[in-house]
Amino acid sequence: MRYLAGKHVLVGITGGIAAYKIPDLIRKLGKAGAKTRIVMTPAAKQFVTPMTLQTLSGHPVYCHPSRPSADNAMDHIELARWADCLLVAPATAHSLARLAHGLADDLISTLYLATSSPTFIAPAMNTRMWTHTATQTNVGVLKSRGIFFIEPESGQQACGDEGPGRMAEPETILDNLNHHFGPAEGPAILVTAGPTHEDIDPVRFIGNRSSGKMGFALAEYAHRLRLPVTLVHGPTTFPPPEGIPSFAVRSAEEMLGVITRQLPQHDIFISAAAVADYQPASPENKKSSKHHNIMTLALKPAPDILAETAKISGQCLRIGFAAETHDLEKHALEKLQRKQLDMIIANPVGLEDSGMESDYNQACVYWSTKKKHFPRTSKQALAKQLIDLILELYREKNTVKDS
Ligand SMILES: Cc1cc2nc3c(=O)[nH]c(=O)nc-3n(C[C@H](O)[C@H](O)[C@H](O)COP(=O)(O)O)c2cc1C
Repeated sequence: MRYLAGKHVLVGITGGIAAYKIPDLIRKLGKAGAKTRIVMTPAAKQFVTPMTLQTLSGHPVYCHPSRPSADNAMDHIELARWADCLLVAPATAHSLARLAHGLADDLISTLYLATSSPTFIAPAMNTRMWTHTATQTNVGVLKSRGIFFIEPESGQQACGDEGPGRMAEPETILDNLNHHFGPAEGPAILVTAGPTHEDIDPVRFIGNRSSGKMGFALAEYAHRLRLPVTLVHGPTTFPPPEGIPSFAVRSAEEMLGVITRQLPQHDIFISAAAVADYQPASPENKKSSKHHNIMTLALKPAPDILAETAKISGQCLRIGFAAETHDLEKHALEKLQRKQLDMIIANPVGLEDSGMESDYNQACVYWSTKKKHFPRTSKQALAKQLIDLILELYREKNTVKDS
């Protein structure tokens, strides 16, 4: 992809350890044909030298709001106008707070206020700093202003902690910018996420441990590729990603209702929700009291969303998930066939810190006669690999159809 060719990318570097990856990013941006100018906070200079960056970008590095002495340098308003986009990478917790509050006490935050071009932010910090309410509130404020976040990845951090907070790799940052400047066309994707709750009475329900994280990560990555995405989610413990049209539902019945209406407008259906297999046969209108030592609850099958969509999906590519504690391959292949799916993503559950509720997951994917294994990684990283594979299959099927 060469959508960055000729684009003006203004890169703001703040004082995080991940700044050491920025020379590589500048080199990659140059190779992609982008023109870069670099702005640093004083703290950033402790992690990477302006000399390295000047050499790689071929231009003086800006560190202060006042005009630098170099002849070919621009002042901050000129720089803000020059930029086709502002990229802040790595973005420290401190700089996120500055941007969220509209401070202008350094050149990056001044440029953010002065530019009308899109801003991309690649945060990088210790996982506790990233998940702290103060940081997440600032992130929420910035997202609500339409800032594009290149989400940090999960994994081992420089400080030894493990969890989300590590800056996205330069390659991922480049992908995000490329897609932003690329054409917006692509298949429309309908994603389901989270559990369903099947009511027993007004206060009790049958549910499951699905968190919605996998479905949300899939929707978020597809959205970042600028594909039209719609999300249908059950009662998750945290809100769906911002900027994606979402429908909140409660039961399998409600989920099926929304999907039936939405499916015809979509090209790909990814069923990542953990939909209940059974629901109470006769839910009570009033809370049932504790009268007996043993209570028997009659259950009936809940609507089978995958089976129902097979009847109405037309040309839509249908992707299912199978969460299994044992005989993964056998159950997945059987479900692939029984539900007439185009692909099934089987993930083992019951393992430590992987699958349901966890931030991590692993999967074995089956389609036609093929199979691919994705080892344990963050749900965000897995989502990227899965969406890329699904899009490959989509293109394959559509090329065959068109030829
Ligand atoms: C060795 C070291 C590594 C640091 N790494 C980070 C980091 O990855 N993310 C972060 O938010 N702050 C980090 N900090 C703290 C920031 O450097 C500090 O908050 C600084 O004031 C940020 O300034 P700036 O946002 O203006 O660049 C680090 C500090 C030190 C000493």
